[in-house]
Amino acid sequence: MNAKTRIVVIGATSAIAEHCCRLWVERGPVDLTLVARDATRTERIATDLRVRGPASTVTVMTADFVDAKDIARVAKATTDAGAVDIVLIAHGAMPKQELCADIDFCRETLEINAVSPALFAEAFAGHFATANHGTIAIIGSVAGDRGRKVNYTYGASKGLIERYAQGLDHRFAGSGVSVVLLKPGPTDTPMAAEHKAKGRKLASAEQVARTIVQGIDRRKFVVYAPPLWQLIMLIVRHLPRFIFNRLSL
Ligand SMILES: NC(=O)c1ccc[n+]([C@@H]2O[C@H](COP(=O)([O-])OP(=O)(O)OC[C@H]3O[C@@H](n4cnc5c(N)ncnc54)[C@H](OP(=O)(O)O)[C@@H]3O)[C@@H](O)[C@H]2O)c1
Repeated sequence: MNAKTRIVVIGATSAIAEHCCRLWVERGPVDLTLVARDATRTERIATDLRVRGPASTVTVMTADFVDAKDIARVAKATTDAGAVDIVLIAHGAMPKQELCADIDFCRETLEINAVSPALFAEAFAGHFATANHGTIAIIGSVAGDRGRKVNYTYGASKGLIERYAQGLDHRFAGSGVSVVLLKPGPTDTPMAAEHKAKGRKLASAEQVARTIVQGIDRRKFVVYAPPLWQLIMLIVRHLPRFIFNRLSL
């Protein structure tokens, strides 16, 4: 019998996800499956994690994140191998809004940020429902709390994730399955490189990962990371439109 907590990380080359994995292997033996599109980069992360947590098991799997059949394959292969305790769905891409004027690119952005995470969540939900066990953790964003001109394609995708997570949370209420929606604010990762270049204040990936891992432990439905963003977004969400539309947020 496998006593280690089994965790599947989708989008495992994400800097935030990598820091979550570091925290998990450093606090005790876990069985990690890292899923990403690039085998070489994912293997490099796996090798580092094996050094950090020698008692942990780390395996690598590649997938096409916008292929529904491949998403179903990943969920089946990982859950067939034994009960999965946590799936962390972490992938995403935040292009400049102007690029989404190209309708094909706009579709790709919606697919990778909205459709793909929702399909991963749905694929694991089916298996978790049968097992009546598991935590589905999805990384959304504060950007999903209110549409803004600077990133509304990305923000709308994260908004879809929130609705999906809410529905799943409702579906699994009172069961052995829990749903956790993580909402980071701007974080120092490759995704936010442009913000960093502009001198914008960013949380560290490690700090955000700590809040995420803690939120998953507590099975809290919504977790802002860092937590201060809960208050900031409460204000942003409630700003009257006639004020909001005059601001460059
Ligand atoms: N950084 C922030 O400021 C911030 C704020 C709020 C929310 N978030 C969310 O946090 C999560 C993690 O992002 P991060 O900050 O850690 O960024 P990151 O280090 O840039 O990681 C992005 C991840 O998404 C994957 N990805 C992007 N496009 C993909 C595609 N078409 N197919 C497969 N995988 C793809 C990347 O894979 P490759 O390594 O192969 O490119 C990588 O694993 C994302 O959901 C993001 O939206 C980030």
